[in-house]
Amino acid sequence: MKYAVRYYTKTGNTMRLAEAIAKELGVEPLPISVPVTEQVDILFLGNSYYAFNIDPEVKAFVGSLDRSKVGKIVNFGSAAMLNSTYKKVKVEADKVGIPMDDKEFHCKGEFKGIHRGRPNADDIKAAVEFVKQYK
Ligand SMILES: Cc1cc2nc3c(=O)[nH]c(=O)nc-3n(C[C@H](O)[C@H](O)[C@H](O)COP(=O)(O)O)c2cc1C
Repeated sequence: MKYAVRYYTKTGNTMRLAEAIAKELGVEPLPISVPVTEQVDILFLGNSYYAFNIDPEVKAFVGSLDRSKVGKIVNFGSAAMLNSTYKKVKVEADKVGIPMDDKEFHCKGEFKGIHRGRPNADDIKAAVEFVKQYK
């Protein structure tokens, strides 16, 4: 299996999840500014909610993906209040014809003092456990 990990972060939370996930998979965690040029079975895509939506850069990144290069997307991320960006990402993935795994990893993410310290050590551990099923 070949993997890639890309993330978008504003305050570092998604980056921390991406680092743990990528380490478990033995690949580099890279920001979405780095295009996916190699053939991968699974692209782990980290992203979050900002003002009730995913960032336009994340939409553009998914839109730029080549379906002949990416087997499927596994979504991961955190948010302060909302539960999952899955549906938002899927709208973009559907446009380029790349399937999204039914499963995703989501946890609380600190925002303005709410959920302080999250993702915390337990969240990171849970993210690593989540990834193991794809190995
Ligand atoms: C500008 C901004 C807007 C946000 N808006 C939302 C929101 O609408 N709903 C929500 O659940 N969380 C919201 N959050 C919280 C983030 O989703 C949460 O802090 C997440 O962990 C941030 O990940 P990051 O550090 O990788 O950017 C917002 C955070 C920021 C910085």
